[in-house]
Amino acid sequence: MLTMPTFPVVVKIGHAHSGMGKIKVDNHYDFQDIASVVALTQTYATTEPFIDSKYDIRIQKIGSNYKAYMRTSISGNWKTNTGSAMLEQIAMSDKYKLWVDTCSEIFGGLDICAVKAVHGKDGKDYIFEVMDCAMPLIGEHQAEDRQHITELVVSKMNQMLSKTPIPSPQRPTATQQPQSGSLKEPEPNKIPPQRPPPQGGPVHPQGMQSQSQEPLQPQRVFPA
Ligand SMILES: Nc1ncnc2c1ncn2[C@@H]1O[C@H](COP(=O)(O)OP(=O)(O)OP(=O)(O)O)[C@@H](O)[C@H]1O
Ligand SMILES: [Mg+2]
Repeated sequence: MLTMPTFPVVVKIGHAHSGMGKIKVDNHYDFQDIASVVALTQTYATTEPFIDSKYDIRIQKIGSNYKAYMRTSISGNWKTNTGSAMLEQIAMSDKYKLWVDTCSEIFGGLDICAVKAVHGKDGKDYIFEVMDCAMPLIGEHQAEDRQHITELVVSKMNQMLSKTPIPSPQRPTATQQPQSGSLKEPEPNKIPPQRPPPQGGPVHPQGMQSQSQEPLQPQRVFPA
């Protein structure tokens, strides 16, 4: 890697997030320096071309709900997730939908995933990251996104459970135990109307935080 054809490059060290461990390297002298640092870290590193970009794009899919965001650096850092930046929702396009649907398919049909890209000054888009359901929620519609996730999970569970013929062989006519009885009954009927609105209580504080989250850093509410 000491003979990288073109600079600048971006070196990404290990399994970090929030822009940590990402370094822009302008020439092979600096590259050698970084390589020597990486050599001490006991972790992997990757190198990719640096894209001179105008803004970041993020497309997310939660079931059949799609959203696209654009993030522009205000403070001028090449990493738009470092320093201050402006986050705006933008219109979904067929191209964006194709990206995220394709990524979903590649990984076996992900219900929840996101794709990140940088929009270069050359007018082209460069995808540089795909996330699965560990993706953080961003933007002002996080409460709505959580609701979509909740509905998706509940409907999946109902779908799976209604297909599972487990209840029949167990205890043919045991009416004694109210617990198992009450669990079995609602399932064949329908979706249990209103189970504890999942995440209901604890959600609000987070939602509040995130809404006033123009300057982009606070996204990472739950890093690990
Ligand atoms: N090859 C690249 N060329 C230009 N800019 C890049 C490149 N790779 C990353 N960036 C910029 O740096 C930012 C952080 O990069 P990246 O998303 O890979 O880091 P991260 O630590 O995984 O951050 P996050 O936790 O937000 O996913 C990106 O949002 C983008 O603005
Ligand atoms: Mg990342």
